[in-house]
Amino acid sequence: MSNHSDNLRRSPAPDNQAARIGEIEPFYVMEILDRAFALEHAGRAVIHLEVGEPDFPTPVPVAEAGMQALREGKTRYVSALGVDALRERIAARYPPACRPPPDRVAVTPGSSGAFQLIFGSLIDPGDEVLLTDPGYPCNANFVRLFEGVPRLVACDAAAGYQFTATAIETAWTERTKAVLIGTPSNPTGTAVSSDEMTRIVESVERLGGTLIVDEIYHGLTYGPEVRTALYDTDRAFIVNSFSKYFGMTGWRVGWLVMPSAFIDGITKLAQNLFISTNTPAQYAALRACEEDVVAELERRREVFRQRRDYLVPALRELGFKVPVTPDGAFYVYADCSAFTNDSYEFALEVLDSTGVAITPGCDFGRYRHREHVRFSYANHLGKLQQAVQRLAGFLS
Ligand SMILES: Cc1ncc(COP(=O)(O)O)c(C=O)c1O
Repeated sequence: MSNHSDNLRRSPAPDNQAARIGEIEPFYVMEILDRAFALEHAGRAVIHLEVGEPDFPTPVPVAEAGMQALREGKTRYVSALGVDALRERIAARYPPACRPPPDRVAVTPGSSGAFQLIFGSLIDPGDEVLLTDPGYPCNANFVRLFEGVPRLVACDAAAGYQFTATAIETAWTERTKAVLIGTPSNPTGTAVSSDEMTRIVESVERLGGTLIVDEIYHGLTYGPEVRTALYDTDRAFIVNSFSKYFGMTGWRVGWLVMPSAFIDGITKLAQNLFISTNTPAQYAALRACEEDVVAELERRREVFRQRRDYLVPALRELGFKVPVTPDGAFYVYADCSAFTNDSYEFALEVLDSTGVAITPGCDFGRYRHREHVRFSYANHLGKLQQAVQRLAGFLS
């Protein structure tokens, strides 16, 4: 990686900086973004396919509910695990067959806050957490923050870039404490099937570990519904967020459903780490759960589905390999080995030559990362079509 790292601007670390900061890698896509902004500044029309958030704004009634909360003075600390009405509303979103009681729901500052609470309550120094490679990069850093050891396990296209029960059992060691699965995943958009999730739950519980399931892209799925792991167990941590499906990335509201045995520990940690989650944003999130807003979100889901259905075959036509059609999120993890064996340089070249910004595989792990790039379809269909045209010119 050193050639890549050297490309990133770095100032020398202060002598008194903790060693753990040195272990955290920067987002390589920031380099792409900086260049993209420089190109835009110079008058080029950049098509942004590197973004990790919905292009839709927060629905108007949700934003208004947030403003109303401000006007009503709902600006003080609230209970550490969230306002009761929101905890109840979140619990009620789960189907009756697996609905948790509201006291197992904690509202958190984004799902990022949920991960800090989970790892802070679970990990002792040296404990291992199994993570998929490729996967969402921050998770490994959360584990490091609590002095755990993130173990990245290569998950290939044949397994849908996801864990299987067998892969988990093979990777398990006596230090393994937990397994984290993102389904659908960032960067691949692929989901774990219901049957495999049932097998995974059985394996992890038999091995005496804890399962953490990141369901932040639930709702943004375009085929059969991806089932929550709550159907299989009440001993796992289930993470979700208002960021993606609800279009509220900047409001910073997420949630977790925890096993009852952890309620006291998580409450203490939440009180200390956050005091509480942004109060007006919780009232906005409450409004986001109402029927009229959900109807709008479902229309948006259909738009994302159309974009996926355009982009995946178009990329295949260009010569990228997309061995597994993504089930959800708004990402395509494309194998670019027909064009390059250095996806970072490739992403820079694509940007310079075509003005299309994409994310290199090195942001998501070390398994064949040089042969993969991530396309985000959080952009209009017309822009996706233009991007494909530009790429066609460049690749030919
Ligand atoms: C898989 C995954 N998990 C968690 C997050 C964090 O989301 P937030 O803290 O906004 O809920 C992201 C954001 O991109 C993500 O892609």
